[in-house]
Amino acid sequence: YLPLPLSSLSLCTSFSPSISLSFSLSLFIATMRDLKRKDKLVEAAGDAYGKTLSLAVLDVCTDESVKQCINGIKDRHVDVLINNAGIGLVGPVESISIAEMKSVFETNFFGVIRMIKEVMPDMKKRKRGHIIVVSSVMGLQGVVFNDVYAASKFAMEGFCECLAVQLLKFNVTMSMIEPGPVHTEFESKMIQDVRQKEFPGADADTVNYFKNVYLPSSVDIFETLGQTPDDIARCTKKVIEQGSSARFRNLTNPLYTPIVALKYADETGGLSVHAFYHMLFNLGPLMHVSMKAMQYLTCGCLRSRTISPN
Ligand SMILES: NC(=O)c1ccc[n+]([C@@H]2O[C@H](COP(=O)([O-])OP(=O)(O)OC[C@H]3O[C@@H](n4cnc5c(N)ncnc54)[C@H](OP(=O)(O)O)[C@@H]3O)[C@@H](O)[C@H]2O)c1
Repeated sequence: YLPLPLSSLSLCTSFSPSISLSFSLSLFIATMRDLKRKDKLVEAAGDAYGKTLSLAVLDVCTDESVKQCINGIKDRHVDVLINNAGIGLVGPVESISIAEMKSVFETNFFGVIRMIKEVMPDMKKRKRGHIIVVSSVMGLQGVVFNDVYAASKFAMEGFCECLAVQLLKFNVTMSMIEPGPVHTEFESKMIQDVRQKEFPGADADTVNYFKNVYLPSSVDIFETLGQTPDDIARCTKKVIEQGSSARFRNLTNPLYTPIVALKYADETGGLSVHAFYHMLFNLGPLMHVSMKAMQYLTCGCLRSRTISPN
């Protein structure tokens, strides 16, 4: 067990204001692409701002920005790196350009690797450190119409699974945080984006399945099972505090454990592919009714039961 020393420093890429209140780590650097948007975070941080919490500019998509950010830290010493920055992309593959797909990988995959490459050598030298990557349930189980986003998170999972073994030899811990749906701007951006798009290149049937079958189910699932950013922060904080005894995989929402288990229960892959097909295309309308019934019957307590960290 490796407790965090009092002087330990954590760096989190793209820190959400709602998350900040849950953190009480000794020294914390929260990064943003644009410091003009810092007000909410500063307000949420209260007295901690300027004392234990500081802000830095960082765009994980450029080498220079990543270097500048880490060079700005005393002795480039980072004890805990939390890779949170990420973007979503949903829709029929036919309507998504290769450039759009590359930008998802640039942020979700190469952005994380840039950060890891910059802090890992020092962690290895010191034989101490913790790298945390905010992945997703979709890094473990693909979800229809999330092809590119899931692929970027699968890529990250594979990369980290390999690296975790090597890092263990240097006493550096690697942990994945795998949330299901979370109520953040991610969800609202996705819905807004979809409303504005025409989906050129996709046939009418596919657009119909996406807009009228997948999207309503997705909204229901977010409403019924979605966690809050604070829930994810609590889980992340627990993982940080566990230090070298932290688990590699951390699903934040136990309701998703059976879905992931389904995949590993059948090595042919047929079980999960057919279960998802059946759920969406045969049980779609029924699912809407049952999700609404669940919301009504549980009055939101289902949502509060979805947190594993405490
Ligand atoms: N919300 C969910 O349902 C959900 C579920 C599972 C996993 N996740 C994962 O959780 C993480 C956080 O997502 P979120 O839900 O908090 O989404 P969000 O509200 O959209 O926040 C994403 C953050 O990433 C930042 N970002 C995007 N590109 C960046 C770049 N090139 N460099 C630095 N920062 C960049 C954004 O900064 P700007 O404000 O400057 O754009 C924003 O602050 C992501 O890795 C996501 O994949 C989310």
